[in-house]
Amino acid sequence: MKKKQIQNPKFIFPNSLKKKLIQRHEEGALRLLRTPDPKLIDFSSNDYLGFSNNPFISDLAQDKLQAYSSQAHGATGSRLLTGNYAMIEDLESYLKYYYSTEAATVFNSGYDANLGLISSVGQRQDLILYDELSHASIRDGIALSKAKAYKFSHNNLKDLEQKLTKFQDQFQTIYIVTELVFSMDGDSADVDILVELCEQFGVYIILDEAHSIGTISKKGSDNLDVKLFARIITFGKSFGSHGAVVLGSNDLKQYLINFAKSFIYTTAPSVETTARNWASHLYLESNSTEFETLGSNIKCFKKQIEANQLSDFFIESQSAIQSCVIGGNENVKLISKQLQQEGFDVRPILSPTVPKGKERLRFCLHSFNTEEEIRSVLNVLSNYLIQTKNE
Ligand SMILES: Cc1ncc(COP(=O)(O)O)c(C=O)c1O
Repeated sequence: MKKKQIQNPKFIFPNSLKKKLIQRHEEGALRLLRTPDPKLIDFSSNDYLGFSNNPFISDLAQDKLQAYSSQAHGATGSRLLTGNYAMIEDLESYLKYYYSTEAATVFNSGYDANLGLISSVGQRQDLILYDELSHASIRDGIALSKAKAYKFSHNNLKDLEQKLTKFQDQFQTIYIVTELVFSMDGDSADVDILVELCEQFGVYIILDEAHSIGTISKKGSDNLDVKLFARIITFGKSFGSHGAVVLGSNDLKQYLINFAKSFIYTTAPSVETTARNWASHLYLESNSTEFETLGSNIKCFKKQIEANQLSDFFIESQSAIQSCVIGGNENVKLISKQLQQEGFDVRPILSPTVPKGKERLRFCLHSFNTEEEIRSVLNVLSNYLIQTKNE
């Protein structure tokens, strides 16, 4: 028999999936990868404090690598096998101190942390109540869990209270999942009322602090006088790096190590990433300049929204995320393109990432943005919006 000649593999793709791509394209919602233009002024990245590019943090990270005489790059295995190196254990001890918590468990990303935590804790007899605008990682964690789940209206604690009243006697444990600052709207729930409600009903809170850490406060919700079940801090935003930590009790840590699949069945974070995450926390602990400058930039941006009479377009937010709702994928893409032509990197957020009709420009503010940049970007935006209105 003639031997078949070995060739490079060819790839095939089902028509059913191709149709979904075509539909996305027709809806003007096809996602494409593109490299940011470094010449544009950054109003788009999550690098709120400029830490991804901070030379002092690089030096601190280098010091850590040297202190551990670490030549390694890869962790070489899961934390449960060969990947549990000394530096990652010591980072977790430091994070316990930094966030005043009993235990800290590092994950590869915020997505992994939410997925592993929420999917593993939700049992068949449990209920998860979550804000309708929760991040995809929260929703995916819920989808993978065995618990029953209902959403409550965005930041609507009356709706949450009604659901708690209705369901309180029907489930073994009730978890509430919400974000301190919402990733697409930049707004927040009234935390005091949330806390009161949770105490009244004896429920377990899971707080995602991805966009509030380093922006609203340097240590997140550790000043809240309340019993929380878990806090998720991500390192890819204010810390300018990658990864995340779940904060909670010693029991929670033990539980995650045993049941959270995105912790167990994956290679641990690289040694360099661990050094960087430690370094960026050390830097934030002893420096407030970037944090304070970001705070004044947020105030300046809000002042300029008013000065340009743009308040009706913007969702009320005290955070570094300021969203200008325009509506329509094509409209938002057009204005974003025009802003980019004027030198500003402001990204359109399209449906289905946000609900239809709520398509928007999302401005992410940074410590390194200048007041002049803030004034001019809103000036340009205001001119385009007036022009569009008159057309
Ligand atoms: C609220 C929220 N939680 C979790 C994540 C996921 O974090 P990471 O980027 O580290 O995977 C994000 C990322 O955008 C987020 O906005």
